Amino acid sequence: TIEDCRIIHLPKVQDPRGNLTFIEGKKHVPFDIKRAYYLYDVPGGAERGGHAHQQLEQLIIAMSGSFDVVLDDGHGQWRFHLNRSYYGLYISSMVWRELDNFSSGSVCMVLASTYYEESDYYRNYDEFIKAVRKIDNGSPVS
Ligand code: TYD
Repeated sequence: TIEDCRIIHLPKVQDPRGNLTFIEGKKHVPFDIKRAYYLYDVPGGAERGGHAHQQLEQLIIAMSGSFDVVLDDGHGQWRFHLNRSYYGLYISSMVWRELDNFSSGSVCMVLASTYYEESDYYRNYDEFIKAVRKIDNGSPVS
């Protein structure tokens, strides 16, 4: 749920030769890391995301540059600005996300708790909201 979504401060090893950040599954993120993917060469003004997941959990990191992530759990919306490679935004399941405001040359890295599975997606906002309302009324996620 949205209460679990938060900025996670990742370890940063400062060094005059350049800084280093590392991420271990179940330690720095609350899930085992099954998959990584990244968005890059994003043209100015583009929007990504626009979906939610039944099960998948993710950590989103601005590896380079910056962008915004808007989270929506069907009850409220929160906008996060990511611009440091040692901050990660943890997103739980059942949270709609949209990414926008990409700076030029930005790279958005995503660590995911499961393999890619299209059937885990809600790609239609109205269907997502219907599912949220069902859960609000006591039904399990389906
Ligand atoms: P999409 O979910 O629309 O990207 P975003 O949420 O970042 O805007 O995915 C774009 C395409 O890439 C879509 O056809 C599914 C495919 N895809 C994979 O094959 N594997 C993956 O791990 C991901 C994230 C996407």
